[in-house]
Amino acid sequence: MTLYPEIIGTGSAVPEKVLTNSDLEKMVDTSDQWIVERTGIKERRIADEKTTASTLATQAAWKALNAAGIKPEQIDVILVATVTGDMPFPSAACMVQKNIGAINASALDLGAGCTGFIYGLKVAEAMIKSEQAKIILLIGVEILTKITDWTDRNTCVLFGDGAGAVLLKATKEKKGILGTYLAADGRLGDMLMMPGGGSLHPASHESVDKRLHYLKMEGNGVFKIAVEMMEDASLKILEQTKINPSEIDILVPHQANLRIITATAKRLKLPMEKVYVNIDRYGNTSSASIPIGIDEIRNGDKYKPGMKLLLVAFGAGFTWGSAVVTL
Ligand code: ACO
Repeated sequence: MTLYPEIIGTGSAVPEKVLTNSDLEKMVDTSDQWIVERTGIKERRIADEKTTASTLATQAAWKALNAAGIKPEQIDVILVATVTGDMPFPSAACMVQKNIGAINASALDLGAGCTGFIYGLKVAEAMIKSEQAKIILLIGVEILTKITDWTDRNTCVLFGDGAGAVLLKATKEKKGILGTYLAADGRLGDMLMMPGGGSLHPASHESVDKRLHYLKMEGNGVFKIAVEMMEDASLKILEQTKINPSEIDILVPHQANLRIITATAKRLKLPMEKVYVNIDRYGNTSSASIPIGIDEIRNGDKYKPGMKLLLVAFGAGFTWGSAVVTL
């Protein structure tokens, strides 16, 4: 018997505080015009001191649970895609488990940079298809602004904080996750990393002085590879699921740069009316950008039950991947 993971509820959460491009003009040598033209970002949400990954993840989780009418005790597995958990351990997933009282769930984090949510979909799909779980809570959450170097104009204009959650339930009908595709190339990892805080450069006065606890990125190099791999991953999943691009209702790409998004849409011959964009309001929220998108589509005016979404992401690792889901 083939089982499918149906999306039965969604939720998202972003911090209240808005940081605009004009705010950034006062912090580093940049301009609203440069940021909008080069990235498409107008503003982003910034977590305050007390807000952590588990705070936003928990808020998104409650919304998904309420939307689905599911009780926390019914959840079998909690998966959290993040590279900015509250601390190296315990995992953000265990913190969410505690916060919502999901006493029957196992819990783990997945670290695949901006592709984390797609990696999570693959794990959830495999667990449901192999009958190891019936109900899975999958969250993408990131608080990148706490590892952002606010003196580096190359990166500090790009990121924002947020969380998105989906609840997946095993069904015999062909709906929900129709297919997933994953890829990685660790040889290129040096182009996008946070070098400090792990076993290579544990926190020390020296690591702090060298600013190793901040995100570092060779933006232009990442940009070129991201455009290639977002197209490649999109074509691979369409081929795998035997779905024609014209059958896709909405492309939900990871929101790293509006120019990457438009290039991907153009290569897939999809008009921009069929492309979901939130980067203008939230910046790059990494593993949260796609599940925030899914939640906004599900609660938006254009939502039609059963609509097909093509999801595609690229991020640190490098990792990339794609999925086709019905909503
Ligand atoms: N304001 C003004 N000027 C700037 C700024 C800024 N904020 N940032 C860079 N510049 C300058 C640079 O210094 C450079 O000046 P120079 O020519 O005098 O040296 C010039 O603008 C061009 O810089 P580039 O880096 O070539 O600019 P580019 O067009 O590539 O845009 C950007 C930079 C926005 C970072 C882009 O490369 C990008 O989006 N990269 C991909 C990001 C991505 O996909 N990341 C993966 C996911 S993120 C994750 O996994 C956490």
